[in-house]
Amino acid sequence: MCGIVGYVGFRNATDVLLDGLRRLEYRGYDSAGIAVRTPEGLKVVKRSGKLSSLAEAVGKTPLQGALGIGHTRWATHGAPTDPNAHPHTTEDGRIALIHNGIFENYLELKEALQARGHRFRSETDTEVLAHLLEETYRGDLLEALREALKAVRGAYAVVVAHEDHEEIVAARTVSPLVVGLGEGENFLASDVPALLPYTRRVIFLHDGDVVRLTREGVEITDLEGRPVQREAVEVDWTLEAAEKGGFPHYMLKEIYEQPWVLENTLGGRLREEEGTVELGLALDPREVDRVHVIACGTAGYAGLYGKYLLETLARLPTEWDVASEYRYRDPVVDSRTLALAISQSGETIDTLEGLREAKRKGARSLGVINAKGSTLTREVEDVLYIHAGPEIGVASTKAYTAMLAAMALLAVWFGRARGALAPEEAQRLLREMRRLPRLVEEVLEKRPLVAHVAEKYHQAQDFLFLGRHVQAPTAYEGALKLKEISYIHAEAYPAGEMKHGPIALIDEHLPVVVLATKGPLYEKTLSNIQEVRARGGKVIAIATEGDEEIPRLAQDVIYVPEVHPLLAPIVSVVPLQLLAYEIAVLLGRDVDQPRNLAKSVTVE
Ligand code: F6R
Repeated sequence: MCGIVGYVGFRNATDVLLDGLRRLEYRGYDSAGIAVRTPEGLKVVKRSGKLSSLAEAVGKTPLQGALGIGHTRWATHGAPTDPNAHPHTTEDGRIALIHNGIFENYLELKEALQARGHRFRSETDTEVLAHLLEETYRGDLLEALREALKAVRGAYAVVVAHEDHEEIVAARTVSPLVVGLGEGENFLASDVPALLPYTRRVIFLHDGDVVRLTREGVEITDLEGRPVQREAVEVDWTLEAAEKGGFPHYMLKEIYEQPWVLENTLGGRLREEEGTVELGLALDPREVDRVHVIACGTAGYAGLYGKYLLETLARLPTEWDVASEYRYRDPVVDSRTLALAISQSGETIDTLEGLREAKRKGARSLGVINAKGSTLTREVEDVLYIHAGPEIGVASTKAYTAMLAAMALLAVWFGRARGALAPEEAQRLLREMRRLPRLVEEVLEKRPLVAHVAEKYHQAQDFLFLGRHVQAPTAYEGALKLKEISYIHAEAYPAGEMKHGPIALIDEHLPVVVLATKGPLYEKTLSNIQEVRARGGKVIAIATEGDEEIPRLAQDVIYVPEVHPLLAPIVSVVPLQLLAYEIAVLLGRDVDQPRNLAKSVTVE
C-alpha cells in the first residue's frame, strides 16, 4: 500500500524522506517520488520501480532543502509509470502533493476541471486535487486544502507543500496519518516505522483532521477550520511492533485494516447513480456464457460466494471447484467459458495449473488477484486487482473480504451487461456496497464481546459452523480460520445439510456457530438452530442488529449491522476472524505463522 513521509525542520529533507520511505517498503509499492523545497523552488523527482531507482535519480541531482514530502505508490488508478507516481503538482509547479486512498468522484471532477482549462499529466485520481488547489489557493495553504477537500469524496491521507511556505499541510479521512513531534522539526507519516529513528512522540490523526506542520509546531483543526485537540502519545514500539501498527500480531492488524481495504477495492469503482461499476476490464462480458471459478482455500470460499452472486445477479452459470480438483477432472470448457482465477499471492501452484488447464481447453481468463507482478497476473488475459495491500499473517483475512467485494463488483458488472440485473436493483446494491467500510468498522467494535465468547468456548475440542446460501461460504471460511490458527477441529456445513449426518455430533460439548443474518432463508436457519438446541448444542449466532428473536434461541449472539442480504457475508465474516484470533491467542498459538502452513503454496 502507499507510504507517506513529510518533513519540516533543519535536516536534509531528501535523506529523511528516502530513509522514511525505506522503512515503509514492507507495505509494498511500485513507484516512488519526493518533492523538496529548495532555494530554487519546489523540485520533484519520481520514478517507477523500486526506491533504489529514485535514490539513483536523486543522487544525480541532489536536492538541497529542509522541507519535503515523499511517497511510495501502490498503483490503483493508472499504471506504475513515472508520470503517475507521486508527488503531483499544480501546473505552475508551485504546489506539490501526495495521497493515499482513492478520490471516488475524480472522473466527474476531472471532466469539470478540464472544461475549465486544466491540463492533466497523469491518469491518477490524485491529480484532481492538485488542480483544485490551483483554484482554491489564495495565499493560505491550509485554507486552500480545506476548500479543495470539500469537492472530493472518498478515502484519503493527503500531504501538501507550497514553495512559498515553510510548512506542510495535511488531512486524513479513513487512510491513516501520524504526526511525529520533534525539537525544531516535525514529521508526518502514514505509519510509525518511518518516524522511529527521529521521534517516538506521535499524534495519531483522526478522520476529518486537517493539520499544519511547521518547524516549531503543529496546528490541528477539523474540515471547517475549528481547532481540535489531539493527545500526543509516546510509542515504545520496536521496529517490528511498529510494522504491526502497534497490534500484537499482523493478523489482528490486517483484520483492522479491512474498512480501508474495502474502500480501496470498491471506492473508485462504484457508479451508484448509473447503477453500474467501472472495472476497466478489456474483457467483453457478452462473450462469456459460463464461469469456472478456480482457487484454493480462503480464495476458494470467496469464489464460492462469487458463484452465488454470479448466478443470482447475472444469471451466469458458474461452476466452482477447488483448483486441485479442477485441474484433474477434465472439465468441459469452450471458448465462451471464463476461467476466473482468484488468489491473494498469485503464486498458488494449484490455481495456476487449474488456469493453465482451462486455457489449454480454450477458455478465456480473468484473475482476481492481490499481488501485483505475480505469476498469475501474467498468465490471465485481464486482472481485477483487489487492492488489499500486502498480507503478512499466514491466515488470510483482509484479502478475503476484498475478494468478496470484488465478486460483488463482477456480479453487478456481468448482471448489467447481460440485462439480468435491473438498474434500480443495481443502484440499491451499489449504495449498500458503499456503506460496507463503515459497517465493518462497526463490527470491529464488537471485539470485546467476541473475546468474551472466545473465553467461554476456547477449551472445546470441536466446533461446527453452519450457514445457508451466501452464508455457507462464510461458515466454511469461519471454520477454516479457526482450525488454521487455533488447531481446534472445526467443520462447516450448509445449515440444511446438518440433519443428513453432522447432527449426530451435537451434544452439550459442541459449540455451533450459526450464520443467522436476515435474508430469504432466515426462518429456515432458525429451524436449524432449534434442531441444535433440542440436542443440547451450544449456539453462537451471528445475527442482524435489532433481531429480538435470536437471543431466545442462542446462548451467545454477536450482532452485525443490517445490510443487503447478498452482502451480509462481508460484515459477518469479521466476527469469525476475531473469534479464531481470540481463541488462538488464549491457547498460546503462533497466530501469524501457524504450524505446517505457508503464506504462498507453490507446491502441489
Ligand atoms: C487461509 C489461506 C489459504 C489461502 C490459499 C490460497 O487463511 O490463506 O487457504 O487462501 O492457500 O492462497 P492464494 O490466495 O494466495 O492463492
